[in-house]
Amino acid sequence: MRKKVIAGNWKMNKDLVETVELINGLKSVVADPKPGVSVVVCPPFTSLAVAANLLKDSVFKLGAQNMSEHDEGAYTGEVSWKMLKSVGCEYVVLGHSERRQYFSETNELINQKAKKAVANGLIPILCVGETLEEREKGITEQVISAQIRGVLSGLLSSDMERVIMAYEPVWAIGTGRNATPVQAQQVHQHIRKLVAQLYSWSLAEGLVIQYGGSVKPDNASDLLAQNDIDGALVGGACLKPDSFAQIIGSVR
Ligand code: 13P
Repeated sequence: MRKKVIAGNWKMNKDLVETVELINGLKSVVADPKPGVSVVVCPPFTSLAVAANLLKDSVFKLGAQNMSEHDEGAYTGEVSWKMLKSVGCEYVVLGHSERRQYFSETNELINQKAKKAVANGLIPILCVGETLEEREKGITEQVISAQIRGVLSGLLSSDMERVIMAYEPVWAIGTGRNATPVQAQQVHQHIRKLVAQLYSWSLAEGLVIQYGGSVKPDNASDLLAQNDIDGALVGGACLKPDSFAQIIGSVR
């Protein structure tokens, strides 16, 4: 059985005071997840150290929302893998569609970041997803394949053991319009088949593929019941302790 990973991407929300409130709220309502389920929170950079401190000895693991492809140096405004590790991050979200769309991140850049993350012991959550226009043109699978080939380029099988993929259809992010379980399952199956072609079936069988895009307490259990959906990358609904707790509790 593959493990399941539920991650909360806070995006650009919560200052320090609000971070303390949200973390304390989560700790009070989230019950111990079922065996084989990991729960990750990804606050903004400015909240990571405080969150790490509050989450010590809890069930929550810590992740960041982005990372530089460089180790260190004159890169104003950037944050390195070493800085993330030093504040207790184990995960890092890479290639989110908002990074692709608003910060011009390419598959090539995301690939460099992914290599840097795995080489330095961080687990990258690599995001892929098509736009509404691409879905309507019927080219979803081609778009996803090109993104996957790009972001995984040069990663070895041994690296892939430390990689999580996230399918986030752009049209479902923050819109309240989630992919149906059937739509999501189709793409997840496609991703797994492609990873099997690129690596091996046994590796693909073990790969955790999260779904993200308007995951809410009322749709989480149907999405998570699909064969190839191994968790969720949650945006808006992770900012409320009760709704994030319900999503975590939806894993069967
Ligand atoms: P929403 O859950 O707000 O649609 O955001 C999804 C997302 O982008 C998570 O990374």
